[in-house]
Order: sequence, then C-alpha cells, then structure tokens
Amino acid sequence: MLESLGRIQNPLVRSLTAAATAFSITTLTAALIIGVTSPKGKSNYRLGIYSSLLGTGCGAIFGLVYTSKTKDKKSVPNLNQSNQGISDNTWKDWRNFVIVRKVKESEEITSFYFKPEDQGEIPNFQPGQFLTIKLDIPGQNKPVIRTYSLSDYPQLCEYYRLSIKREPAPQELDVPPGIASNFMHDFIHEGSIIPAKPPNGKFVLDVQKSIPAVLISNGVGITPMMSMAKAVTIMNPHRSIWFVHGARDGRYHAFRDEVMEIAQQNPNLNVHYRYSRPTPEDTGKYHSIGYVDAALIQQLVGQEAEYFLCGSPTFMQSIMTELKELGVPESRIFFESFGKPMKVASEKQAPDLTVGDGVKAAEIVFAKSGKTLNWQEGDGSILEFAEANDINPPFSCRVGVCGTCICKVNGGNVNYQEEPTAEIDEGSVLICISQPGSSRVVLDI
Ligand SMILES: Cc1cc2nc3c(=O)[nH]c(=O)nc-3n(C[C@H](O)[C@H](O)[C@H](O)COP(=O)(O)OP(=O)(O)OC[C@H]3O[C@@H](n4cnc5c(N)ncnc54)[C@H](O)[C@@H]3O)c2cc1C
Ligand code: FES
Repeated sequence: MLESLGRIQNPLVRSLTAAATAFSITTLTAALIIGVTSPKGKSNYRLGIYSSLLGTGCGAIFGLVYTSKTKDKKSVPNLNQSNQGISDNTWKDWRNFVIVRKVKESEEITSFYFKPEDQGEIPNFQPGQFLTIKLDIPGQNKPVIRTYSLSDYPQLCEYYRLSIKREPAPQELDVPPGIASNFMHDFIHEGSIIPAKPPNGKFVLDVQKSIPAVLISNGVGITPMMSMAKAVTIMNPHRSIWFVHGARDGRYHAFRDEVMEIAQQNPNLNVHYRYSRPTPEDTGKYHSIGYVDAALIQQLVGQEAEYFLCGSPTFMQSIMTELKELGVPESRIFFESFGKPMKVASEKQAPDLTVGDGVKAAEIVFAKSGKTLNWQEGDGSILEFAEANDINPPFSCRVGVCGTCICKVNGGNVNYQEEPTAEIDEGSVLICISQPGSSRVVLDI
C-alpha cells in the first residue's frame, strides 16, 4: 500500500489519499471498539469522532512527508550516476539481455526494450551514450556487432531502450540490405536474448550546465536526442532546450508524441518539427516545411547555446558549416556520426593523431592469426586489409567511435586517418581508422 502511495506524483493528491485511508482505518477501528465495549456510552462516540479526526490529520501529514521521502529515494541515484556516467553495478564485456518489449515508432524505426537476463541492476548512463550489441545471425561467419544510441532516459534505470532503423540496400547498388538492422526488425521479438556491452560513448550532454542546449537531428539521429531531452527534464528542468527535428513526413517521424508529452511536463523544452514533404494527413503535426538549417536554428534560438547534432552525414555537415559561418565556436558544437566519419574543418590545431610516420608499404604481423602480410598504400585501413586476407577481427562502427576493433600493438606504429572518438588504452589502436605508420607493425590479432 505504501509503495502505491509513493507512486502518486502530486503531493496534494497523495496527502488526501493518505488522509482518506487513515480516516477509514481509524473510524472502522473506533466503531469496532465501541461496538464491543459499550455501544450506548455518549463519551465513547465522542472518542470515536476525535480518533477519526486525529487519524485523518496524521494521514494527511504522513502523505506529505512520505512524498518527499519517495522523491529523494528516486532522484538521488539518478543524479549521482549520471554525473559519473557508469555506476558500480556495471559489468565488463558481454551480458545477456532479454527483449521485454518491441514497439514500432515509425515506418522505419522500431524500439527494443532490454532488461538483464540475470534480473540484476543495470547502471545508469550519460544521455547520448550508446550500447554495443552482438547478434548471431544465420549465414554470417561470425557474430555481428553493432552500436545503437540509448533512446530513453527512464527515471529509474530498469531497462535500456534502443531504437533501430531498418537499413535498406542503397538504390543504385546491387548489394544486400543492412544485416543487423533487418535481423532486429524481422527476427528479434519479446523473449529474444541479446548480449550487450555496458553503455559507452563521448557524445554526451552535461545535464548540470545552465547554457541552453539545442538538439538538432534528422531521421534516426533523433535517438540520442531523446535521452538528452528526457535527462534534462528530469534533472535540470530550468535549463532551456530546443528540440529541432527534420523528417520527410509524419510516417517517417518517430517519437513525435513522446517528445510533445515531455514538452508538456517541461515548459523550458521548445520543440520544432520541420517536414520536407508533408502529406495532407500531417496537417497540424509539424511547425514548418523544408530542411532544417542554421537559419532556422538562429531564428528559433537567438542566443548563445551548445549545439548537439545527429543525423545523416550531409545534414550534419551542412549545419555544422553554417553554424560556424554564423560565428558559433567549434567548442560549442558536438556531433555523433552513425556511419561515415564527418570531415570537420577544424579551427583548432589538429591533435597529433600520428603514432608514427606515414608509410607507403609495410609488413603487418597478425600475431594470433599466425599471418605476416605485405600491406600497400591503397589496401585501406588495417581492418579492411585483415578482412581481405581472411582475418576477421571484431568491429562495429568502422568509424572510430565504438572501440570494438581496439587491439594491442606489440611492435611498430600506426597512422590514424580520422580522429578517433572511442577511448584508446595506451599501447592499443583502433584498426578501423588506421594504417601502418612504420615499415613493420605487429598486432595482437
Ligand atoms: C555511435 C553509433 C550510434 C548509433 N545509433 C543508432 C541508432 O540509435 N539507431 C540506428 O538505427 N542506428 C544506429 N547506428 C547505426 C548502426 O550501428 C548500424 O550501422 C546500422 O544499423 C546499420 O547496420 P546494418 O548491419 O543493418 O547494416 P550493414 O550490413 O552494416 O550495411 C550498411 C549499409 O551498407 C549497405 N551495403 C551492404 N553491402 C554493401 C557493399 N558491398 N557496398 C556498399 N554498401 C553495402 C547495406 O545495404 C546498408 O545500407 C549507430 C551507429 C553508431 C556508430
Ligand atoms: S569498429 Fe568502432 S572503433 Fe573501430
């Protein structure tokens, strides 16, 4: 009963509920005692009335006090955990999760709710982070590993939600459609078990800051923005947030109603939906027609802010360029790329990513595989070269974001082609975005 009382959000309603319950209990008890002892004594009736009133008052006060206790219990872990990112109840490597819910969000995007199979606790995460999952897909010679942004931020972190877009084959190419995304849509149902690594990633929003945050997305790039908007609403609702999302039309627009519901709870969350090709059925569901661009952002926000971008590469590239032209410093722009890495013309001095000098040819020793092979400029990244020679190291994003392809270097150096985003341990490299940097490289693969 106490737990049900604790779940009532409105303090007045909680207090009235507790008062009514206490009134019923004390009145019934008093009536029972009077009935058993002396049913006709007037003083006993008075005593009964006083007991009921006292019980009601105590119940009302208890309802109020219990409200604040309940709130404290719920919010403290969230604040602590989200500041630190991963809390104590995290795990290493893979942990089995059960899909407990599958929800279609739009024509292309479906959400999957993950709960740990061992029913233990799961750590909270920083809004914007992703989960890495492993799928055993028939016909694939090794598990398929992919990363997906966490698309929810529940008040109590009891599940993780991933929202996955079905990836079709590009129209102009005769190639198979996306392996993992289509498998998730077609073969993963409630009850399926999927191993996952702990939440990770650096594309995160610092909830405690006060500077306005502008969340700009298109298509499936909406997923990290969902956790960001929700986290701020729960933990720092005074912070101004702009949620700007571009979609083709209503059929391709996921989470439309969910975001509007958050905005109803949080007056500081400003929402703008822009459809490029709205249909007559979409009337009233969007705010403007066209593509999201910096002019729209400037018109909506009109003050200093931090900008978070996620969407198609062309979308992010053009908004990033336009924002910079408008004078937004690079340090205020954050982005996540789901596919090809972004080419960012940096105003800062580029970090020294080179671990060794670039070379045109090199000998690569794949120690665990027992193969020594000659790499040449044009053979691509070390990962591509390994795959072309029947060595299949694990990978996921192939853009230096997820860290799945990390491997130890036992000799020699590598050169990075892109700026890595994933954490890299000393003495290790990401082979998806690197090439040999010395004439001999020894890798622990
Ligand atoms: C940090 C991060 C977060 C992410 N978050 C999300 C998210 O929240 N939601 C989401 O849906 N996705 C997300 N992604 C993308 C996701 O990880 C996968 O890349 C995506 O689901 C596609 O995987 P797939 O296995 O379905 O496609 P793949 O099999 O990897 O194929 C990708 C595309 O390449 C095409 N293709 C296949 N073979 C060839 C070929 N020979 N030549 C050219 N093209 C070919 C396929 O048809 C497909 O269109 C995220 C990625 C990263 C890095
Ligand atoms: S595969 Fe993701 S960092 Fe290399």
